[in-house]
Amino acid sequence: MKQIARFIFALAVLPALVFYWMLRLLLPKQRAFSDLTQCLALVPGIAGEYLRLAFFRRTLPYCGQNACIGFGTIFSHPAAQIGENVYVGPYCILGDVTLEKDVLLASGVSVANGTNQHFFERTDIPIRLQGGEFPRITIGEDSWIGERAVVLANVGRHCVIGAGALVLDSIPDYAIAVGVPAKIVKFRQNPTAETGSFTQNHSPSAIHHQS
Ligand SMILES: CC(C)(COP(=O)(O)OP(=O)(O)OC[C@H]1O[C@@H](n2cnc3c(N)ncnc32)[C@H](O)[C@@H]1OP(=O)(O)O)[C@@H](O)C(=O)NCCC(=O)NCCS
Repeated sequence: MKQIARFIFALAVLPALVFYWMLRLLLPKQRAFSDLTQCLALVPGIAGEYLRLAFFRRTLPYCGQNACIGFGTIFSHPAAQIGENVYVGPYCILGDVTLEKDVLLASGVSVANGTNQHFFERTDIPIRLQGGEFPRITIGEDSWIGERAVVLANVGRHCVIGAGALVLDSIPDYAIAVGVPAKIVKFRQNPTAETGSFTQNHSPSAIHHQS
């Protein structure tokens, strides 16, 4: 049944893909991509989920065939990667991000590319002219990001990030982190372990297993 639905929506998405390729002749790729994801974000229900999946599987470097992207969610970067069985809830905003397999994002999660998109050392020219940096953010496999969290740094594998958290520093594997800014309250493997110091042991990587 799912395969039939995927086939139908692979056809249904063709006009959007044609429009996307036409827009790319007129606009920078990133702008054309985010324009199309805004349009597709507005399609409700299961039809929207299948349409977005069909679009991302043909436009992103990798998008797992069982991924689910919720209503109102916008991907702003065409280099984003979405692993197998990833769930992205409604109203998320995602930049240049790698979501490894089995990642769960609740509603309203923002994943932006670091904290320094705009340098502001100088006061004699506008901030918008001072450049900035956009490091890719990776959320490791099997991590769950709670409702309305803001993620500005890498999250390791098998982590839990509490609702409303603000992640400013990399979170190591198996950590549970909550609050603003996010602090580690325990590790899933060893809930009673000391959380005062830790090392980041997850090396963010691209997803290579395109199927
Ligand atoms: C983080 C979470 C998973 C709880 O994890 P837990 O390991 O069971 O943590 P605990 O409930 O034992 O809480 C540990 C401490 O963190 C605090 N805490 C828990 N969640 C918090 C949050 N989201 N923000 C701030 N503090 C939080 C608790 O108050 C507690 O503090 P204390 O030790 O000072 O009393 C849960 O609170 C949460 O945020 N879930 C996300 C829910 C969500 O977003 N659902 C959307 C649909 S998917």
